[in-house]
Amino acid sequence: MRIVLLGAPGSGKGTQGEMLTAHYGIPRLSTGDALRAAVREGTPLGRKAQAVMEAGQLVDDAIVVGIVEARLDESDASDGFILDGFPRNIGQARTLDHLLDSKQRAPIDLALHLDVPVHEVVARLVKRGIEEGRCDDNEDTIRQRLGVYMAETHPLLDYYAGQGKLVTVPGSGTVTAIFGALTRAIDAHCAPVASA
Ligand code: AP5
Repeated sequence: MRIVLLGAPGSGKGTQGEMLTAHYGIPRLSTGDALRAAVREGTPLGRKAQAVMEAGQLVDDAIVVGIVEARLDESDASDGFILDGFPRNIGQARTLDHLLDSKQRAPIDLALHLDVPVHEVVARLVKRGIEEGRCDDNEDTIRQRLGVYMAETHPLLDYYAGQGKLVTVPGSGTVTAIFGALTRAIDAHCAPVASA
């Protein structure tokens, strides 16, 4: 099962991605988490990414593609994975499709879109910024990230709809109810792994 999670900043991709990983036993790769770890560790990549992330812009495609490719090559991702925060633009989506194809890996099965009204994601992220102090959760950066999402990432809904892989799930409500809707969508679209 190879799943892409789509949605605006604060739509719940990380929250639901972690629950889906536990439920289906497949790894989740969050490019945001990987980049934040690099920033914390002060690696050359992290130093390069930090200012871009704090400005609410997208990090270079080549950097994030490198992170994703390395992770997908790990053995635990061979039977499936959940991508959270990647792809983020049409170029990354095409690269992902080519990457899987060139490695003779099965293509993406499903793109799940968490649909949450803008006012709600802004409220969630402002709250998280106050409670957790994440550097890109101040109101100016949140607005910037939402603008980048609409310009760069939102077109991916049409990209995956065109491949017949898009399912939109309302992302407002309780975490448990949203998780139930996501698992129903996955179970309906992804064939179960055959038992030995
Ligand atoms: P990334 O970490 O991917 O940020 P994001 O998409 O803005 O996502 P968030 O983590 O803010 O939100 P989320 O949708 O995961 O929601 P969450 O579950 O956390 O990327 C950060 C930056 O890295 C980017 O801006 C960019 O610079 C760079 N980057 C990353 N990937 C890249 C790529 N592919 N290419 C280029 N650059 C890249 O929930 C948010 C909050 O809401 C939490 O506090 C949570 O507790 C709360 N919440 C969740 N669900 C609910 C609910 N149902 N009701 C109420 N509250 C809820």
